[in-house]
Amino acid sequence: MDQDIATHLRASSPDLSTGTRVDLDDVAKRYVVGDSTVTALTEVNLHVDEAAFVVVLGPSGSGKTTLLNMIGLLDTPTDGRVALNGRDMTRSSRREQFALRRRSVSFIFQTFNLFPGLTALENVQFGADVAARPAAADIARDGLSRVGLADRLHHFPHQLSGGEQQRVAIARALATDNPILLADEPTGELDFRTGVQILELLQEQAEAGKTVLVVTHNRELSRVADRVIELSSGRIVSDGPPVGGKSRTADLRW
Ligand SMILES: Nc1ncnc2c1ncn2[C@@H]1O[C@H](COP(=O)(O)OP(=O)(O)O)[C@@H](O)[C@H]1O
Ligand SMILES: [Mg+2]
Repeated sequence: MDQDIATHLRASSPDLSTGTRVDLDDVAKRYVVGDSTVTALTEVNLHVDEAAFVVVLGPSGSGKTTLLNMIGLLDTPTDGRVALNGRDMTRSSRREQFALRRRSVSFIFQTFNLFPGLTALENVQFGADVAARPAAADIARDGLSRVGLADRLHHFPHQLSGGEQQRVAIARALATDNPILLADEPTGELDFRTGVQILELLQEQAEAGKTVLVVTHNRELSRVADRVIELSSGRIVSDGPPVGGKSRTADLRW
């Protein structure tokens, strides 16, 4: 990958401590479109300070992606405070936000956001490069084989199915190896068997000490979470362990 980009990123980042703590206090996000205002989030209070597998559950339009974008510092709240590891990011400069995001947050986007001109291997290697990890090419190969794509290393995104592109995006996020992993509908394009494998991979990340936040509209998936945060019309309507207790991935059906 482009060594210049990686070198520049390393040089431009102040050294910030990283961890797995996320705090949202009274967060609201409103979008103004023409004469109308859409309230995507309102009165959101969310505190995650444990390594855990957390599922954010809600129907389409309930504010899930907006919430992940707030936590991932990709968007700023209209009201309220977002803090990572106790540091109030709503009062930080863009440069600090950029540096903290790069060291703290790994993101699996709902729409993948793969680089179309890079192969699967190069896309994943980019993740490892940005995180300034050594042996990025080896990490990328290993990551793609963990998501079952060892035989697609040199395919470009347009030569891959939706599910394969989603798995490249997952491998790229894992290659950045940051303490907070945010995944937006990460099994949306996957068949059941592959979806379960990916869930297990994400669970392993939580067991290894990360905070893993997975967004889904699929209630069945929430059964394997340590904690389920339910959103409805931009509000958190419940927050706690899954109803009926935590299940094993082997017991899931969808
Ligand atoms: N950039 C935007 N401009 C205007 N409205 C938006 C924007 N992003 C999201 N919304 C609106 O905010 C609400 C929540 O969206 P979103 O967070 O994407 O929900 P979800 O991910 O749960 O489907 C929706 O009503 C959506 O139409
Ligand atoms: Mg969404």
